Amino acid sequence: MKTYIVGNWKMNLTVGESSIYLQKLLKRIKPAKGLEIAVAPSAIAIQPLRIQLDRLKSKVKLSAQNFYQKDYGAYTGEVSIMQLRGLVDYAIIGHSERRYIFGETNKDLCQKVAAALRNNVTPILCIGETENERSFGETVSVIRDQLHGALSEIDADDVKKVIIAYEPVWAISSNKNARLASPDDVAESVRLIRSELKEIYGKETAEETPILYGGSVNPNNAGAYLTVPGVNGLLIGGSSLISDHFIDIIELAKRVKS
Ligand code: PGA
Repeated sequence: MKTYIVGNWKMNLTVGESSIYLQKLLKRIKPAKGLEIAVAPSAIAIQPLRIQLDRLKSKVKLSAQNFYQKDYGAYTGEVSIMQLRGLVDYAIIGHSERRYIFGETNKDLCQKVAAALRNNVTPILCIGETENERSFGETVSVIRDQLHGALSEIDADDVKKVIIAYEPVWAISSNKNARLASPDDVAESVRLIRSELKEIYGKETAEETPILYGGSVNPNNAGAYLTVPGVNGLLIGGSSLISDHFIDIIELAKRVKS
């Protein structure tokens, strides 16, 4: 299975800064077999970065951070995945900031997963429990609910095209009291996700679905997360904004997974 290193820039970097970052990235990294590198810039930077990547015939991929689930219509201010089709290969869906700041529900996310698949964009579905849920012993039921909720209308063939990102909300660096998840914490949740997938879709799908880890990943801990059994890559927020750190993590991934 491929290894995925995805940088989620969130609402950071201007279009100009994004382009300079990309230029530096492309100069420094060499493509490696089995390694998929993607960045998720702000929506307004997607098209210029697409042009930049195409001009250089680069294999680096672009991801949307979000989109609206309808393909077109009277939804002022929204951008659909149909409009992003051809510009991005991936779309992050259900990031905890979308769930908790913008109130997106499992039902919305299920429609988004379906919309991405129908438009040939690979969904990166984020799931993960909050600190409170974890302290009340609800981790298993939350992960189960989020997974079942977002995939309820997706059949086994299509689920194979979905990437799952396990991102415990308490470990995401933008949280005030963020703390690091241990590799054991990650291993346990990844096992749970695969066993849920197995229950719904069968063994083959469960084994073939890529699962990424995200939450305060940096060049010092990336190696430990990448060697957790069942982890197929990383979704990186804060550290991906520093191009040197992102490049270090990519280099590390090449060594660890080769
Ligand atoms: P972080 O963010 O790496 O800054 O913790 C990860 C994410 O929110 O996807």
